[in-house]
Amino acid sequence: MTTSNNYNVVVLISGKGSNLQALINATKSSQLPIKISGVISSQPNVYGLQRAKDANIPHSHLSPKDFQSRDAYDITLGDLIDQYKPNLIILAGFMRILGKAFLERFQDKIINIHPSLLPLYPGINTHQQVLHDKRVEHGCSIHFVTTDLDAGPIIAQAAVEVSVTDDIETLQQKVHTAEHFLYPTIVNWFAHKRVSLEGNTVVLDSTFPVPKTGLCFKLNL
Ligand code: GRF
Repeated sequence: MTTSNNYNVVVLISGKGSNLQALINATKSSQLPIKISGVISSQPNVYGLQRAKDANIPHSHLSPKDFQSRDAYDITLGDLIDQYKPNLIILAGFMRILGKAFLERFQDKIINIHPSLLPLYPGINTHQQVLHDKRVEHGCSIHFVTTDLDAGPIIAQAAVEVSVTDDIETLQQKVHTAEHFLYPTIVNWFAHKRVSLEGNTVVLDSTFPVPKTGLCFKLNL
């Protein structure tokens, strides 16, 4: 199946942007037939913005501290995003909670990647918590963004093993490896219209081939 014309995405970041880089790499190698129309950071001078610049992707930052209210920030962010007319808004390490009006404005068009096997460990410091709880499995989840923090309908997850020798850094690396595989894969599915949301239920086209990988790939097919 081919994608319909240009599938536009905007990527929102706040930091290093390694997930953004994974998406850029996949588009460059033609594995991901999308156009990253814009990158917007909630922080200035982050490495993710440099990655966008290096890839010749229009990029900007919008700092919350320059706005008097959360709503004002969200409206300006939404207007900026609208200029790119994206099919999908991809949160990739965007460290900011988006308000209800923003989420309604872009209903069912915003996805996020979270470093845990949700519903386990929403919020921050997921790797620390996994180690503290002596879990044997950890991973990442891609979900639709709703007003419930890290609790929107889950699209896909990838699991990694936690070994007794893991520390926060090694675990974070394992999860990043999983994320860098999972995000381009799932965005590709969006571009091919293989993912939809019916109410709160994610509907995946089960005829789409699941990539062979060493990772445990979790889908609700
Ligand atoms: C990722 O671990 C992602 O799951 C979380 O923030 C981190 C962003 O990393 N939401 P990067 O900026 O993509 O390197």
